Amino acid sequence: MLVKKIKMHNQNQNTKSTKICVVLTDPEDWTAQAFVKNIEKRGAKAVPLNLSTLSASISTADFSIFNADLTDVELDAIIVRDVGISFSLEQISFKFDLLRQFEKSIPLMNRSEAIQNAANKFFSFYLFKLAHLPIPRTTITSELDVALNAIEEFGTAIAKPIFGSQGKGILKLESSQPDLKPTLTALLKERDVLYLQQFVPNPGRDIRVFVVGDEAVGAIYRVSQVDSFVSNLSQGGTPVKCELTAEMQELAVRATKAVGADFAGIDLIEGDEGLFLLEINGTPSGKGINRACGIDVTERIVDRLFERLENRK
Ligand SMILES: Nc1ncnc2c1ncn2[C@@H]1O[C@H](COP(=O)(O)OP(=O)(O)O)[C@@H](O)[C@H]1O
Ligand SMILES: [Mg+2]
Repeated sequence: MLVKKIKMHNQNQNTKSTKICVVLTDPEDWTAQAFVKNIEKRGAKAVPLNLSTLSASISTADFSIFNADLTDVELDAIIVRDVGISFSLEQISFKFDLLRQFEKSIPLMNRSEAIQNAANKFFSFYLFKLAHLPIPRTTITSELDVALNAIEEFGTAIAKPIFGSQGKGILKLESSQPDLKPTLTALLKERDVLYLQQFVPNPGRDIRVFVVGDEAVGAIYRVSQVDSFVSNLSQGGTPVKCELTAEMQELAVRATKAVGADFAGIDLIEGDEGLFLLEINGTPSGKGINRACGIDVTERIVDRLFERLENRK
């Protein structure tokens, strides 16, 4: 088997054309393809890469990352479309360690720490709290009694996986439901830890704001299906253009800064007393906002990456 090595481009050698790696799992994904298209529009070469195809070799003298399918390639920068879902802690750690290693030499967008902060619904909420951002009350626990008390206080609660996405694994729980205790016991057995959040009564939609750099570049409402309380597009929600208010822009930009991201998708919900942050996504899909508003967020992200490359020279 011929092993082809991946090298980081030495920034002093400017003879070759710029090569930007797009970390992805699905080459057919709209956002992944839009990144590739916009990188090539800038005259650079796009190198799609699935992190699970990478291997590493370490000895006292050498360290290399390699991919059996690639010809030798020197990368100048990396954009992460998605790292992929992994149920093995070891595999997901290895993927992030590869990203951490890459970013020692070349620009990575988003930075690995920002992707991890955003993916973690507990830690991102902690960072939002430090930034004085409005969030629904949330309790994280492995104790049944603590969970029961929290739901008693919340009245209506949402249980979500700490590392979930696309509206998967989200349940609505009522303090009055007769089977609350067995339901929580079963959920604890399955998840080991529960993430419980006060349900925010809302107009049957949430708001996804896109931020690139210091700017909120657009937003969509995601209107839930009639029989659903989850508005994710992957769960049948409909994208509808949303006019950005100053409050939406401010919250979304501050949330992006709080997790240290260069770009992000921020979920807001309209409660009775104003907007609340629900979560931030450091690897957001650009498809819905493109459909509803004609905005291509990937073009702005690629522009920002090129600015960063220019500033390194
Ligand atoms: N506290 C809440 N109150 C009301 N609806 C919620 C709440 N949390 C989540 N939802 C609904 O569930 C959807 C998914 O929740 P979210 O926290 O964004 O997780 P995911 O990572 O799965 O998108 C939201 O877009 C919203 O429609
Ligand atoms: Mg969401």
